Amino acid sequence: IEARFAGGPLEGRHVLVTSGPTHEPIDPVRYIANRSSGAQGTALAAALRDLGARVSFVTGPAEVPPPARVDVIRVQTAREMLEAVTDALPADAAVMAAAVADWRIENASGSKMKKEGGGAPRLDFAENPDILASVCRSEARPALVVGFAAETDDVVAHATAKRARKGCDWIVANDVSPATGIMGGSENAVTLITADGAEIWPRLTKTETARRLAERISGALT
Ligand code: CTP
Ligand code: CA
Repeated sequence: IEARFAGGPLEGRHVLVTSGPTHEPIDPVRYIANRSSGAQGTALAAALRDLGARVSFVTGPAEVPPPARVDVIRVQTAREMLEAVTDALPADAAVMAAAVADWRIENASGSKMKKEGGGAPRLDFAENPDILASVCRSEARPALVVGFAAETDDVVAHATAKRARKGCDWIVANDVSPATGIMGGSENAVTLITADGAEIWPRLTKTETARRLAERISGALT
């Protein structure tokens, strides 16, 4: 029996998930992006679906395919992601797992830049909209808004400050220092930052981390 017909604690709930990187074009063949496989966001969308939620899955160009039986909205850039997210509201919860590029190239070229004759190009950067902060300020703000934060160094301090700055309810923080080996792997070790403080979770597969997170989201909504 498929999960969608099996009921579950999130039946009748709508959850929005962002996932993957965004690609910001430099020219038709080049872009800038963050490193992100999309694995954690994809696992989370699947776990929420398995608890019975209707999931809107707004994804950049990820390495892993989107889950089955969710509404997939594919985007490339941060600005497209913001538009897709805004269109997908209202929702009961929003979980922003995407690794959104902080900047786009303001002077992107419509034709391929050539080496010949030009020397190295100069790129002008413009700041992208903050999708998470925008959802938090929205009139259609979901009851529960969860952000992610990939940090190095003092993870809890950075993530706690980020939670306050963005105005979200929870931050799922992880330490992506090269020494942890988390980046690009199949496991994650997260710290959940809520109004009550920081909870350090054990190192788990991304699937298991997603299941726990989905259970917590379900608990908060019901
Ligand atoms: N995020 C977003 N839109 C952006 C940037 C980030 O929605 N333009 C979301 C991410 O999906 C994540 C959270 O905000 O859930 C934190 O992202 P992060 O890059 O850690 O935060 P920034 O405010 O960009 O801070 P930093 O300077 O550390 O990159
Ligand atoms: Ca960022």
